[in-house]
Amino acid sequence: KKILFSGIQPSGVFTIGNYFGALKNWVELQDEYNCYYCVVDLHAITVPQVPKDLRQNSKNALAMLLACGLDPKKATIYYQSHVSGHAELAWILNCFSYMGELSRMTQFKDKSRKQGENIRVGLYDYPVLMAADILLYQADLVPVGQDQKQHLELTRDIAQRFNNTFSPTFTIPEPYIPKAGARVMSLQEPEKKMSKSDENINAFVSMTDHKDTIIKKFKRAVTDSEAEVRYDEENKRGISNLMEIYSVATNKSYEEIEREFQGKGYGDFKLAVGESVANLLEPIQREYTKLLNEKGYMEEILKESTEVARRVSNKTLSKVKKKVGFVSF
Ligand code: TYM
Repeated sequence: KKILFSGIQPSGVFTIGNYFGALKNWVELQDEYNCYYCVVDLHAITVPQVPKDLRQNSKNALAMLLACGLDPKKATIYYQSHVSGHAELAWILNCFSYMGELSRMTQFKDKSRKQGENIRVGLYDYPVLMAADILLYQADLVPVGQDQKQHLELTRDIAQRFNNTFSPTFTIPEPYIPKAGARVMSLQEPEKKMSKSDENINAFVSMTDHKDTIIKKFKRAVTDSEAEVRYDEENKRGISNLMEIYSVATNKSYEEIEREFQGKGYGDFKLAVGESVANLLEPIQREYTKLLNEKGYMEEILKESTEVARRVSNKTLSKVKKKVGFVSF
C-alpha cells in the first residue's frame, strides 16, 4: 500500500473549506492507502495561542476528524506534539533549507504582515516542520487544498537536496489536490480564500454552524448584478464559488446546476446551496457532539495510533541521524 500523510491545524473550528479541500478526501482515501493524519499543534503555536483554547480546540479537532468519518482502524490519527520525531527531523532539515526559499513562501508573507515587527522564527520555519511531517513517514501522497501546494514543492526540494547530499533517504511526495473544492473562496470577498480566521463571520461557514446560520450566510453571499447561474470563474467569482460548493456537496456537474436554475433567481440558488451544505453537515455535527461527550474513547484511540506513529517515524529518524554523521550505539 502506498503511504499518505496529511495534517490540519487545531486553530479554531474547521470551515467547509477545510472539509472540501482536505477532510472529505482524507476519508475517501483511507481505504486505499496507508494513512497518517495528524493534528498539527506544533504548527498552531506559530501564531499566538491561549493555552486553554488550544487544548480545547485540539480535542475538538480530533472529534471532528472522527465525526467526518476517519476510522482509527484504517488510519493512524494522532497529535503532532506527541511524536517527538517531528520536531527532531525539522531541526535537521533546517540545516538543509535556505532562507531564500523560505522567504518566498506566500503564506509566510501573508501571515508575517499580521505579526508586525516581531515576526516569530517559528512562523518563518513553518514549512520546514511541514516537510519533516511528510518525510518522516516516507509519504507518497499528500492530500491538501491549493494553498498548500507551494509548501509541498518546498518539501520535495528539501527531500531531493538531502537525498543528493547523502544517498536516497526520503520518498519524494506528490501533492493530491482535488479537482473541485481545492480552493473554497470567502462568501463575502470571493477573490479571497475562505478562512476560519476571517474577522467577518459571514465570510466562512464553520463545520459546527447551525442550519439556520448556514442558510443565512449563503443568503448573504456576495454575487453579481446579473441573474444567471452560470460558471465563469473570471467574471462571476461569487456565483462560480457557490456553484463549486454546491457541486461538491451534491455531486452535480456545472451543466446540471445551470440547467436546474435556468430562469430562476439567485435567491432560489443560494437557498439550495445552503440547504445542501446544511444537510451534508447535519450527520457530522450529530456524531461530533456525541464524540465530545464520550470521554474515554478518543484517548483510547490516540494511545495506539501514537505508538504506531512513533515507531514508524523512528525508523526514518534513525536512518537520517546515521546519514548526517551522528554517533550511534
Ligand atoms: P490548515 O490547517 O490551514 O488547513 C487544513 C487543510 O485544509 C485546506 N484548506 C482549504 N481547502 C480549500 N479551500 C479552502 N478555503 C481551504 N482552507 C484550508 C488546506 O489546504 C489543508 O489541506 N500547513 C497545513 C497543515 C500541515 C500539513 C502538514 C498538511 C502541517 N503539516 C503536512 C499536509 C502535510 C495547514 O496549515 O493546513
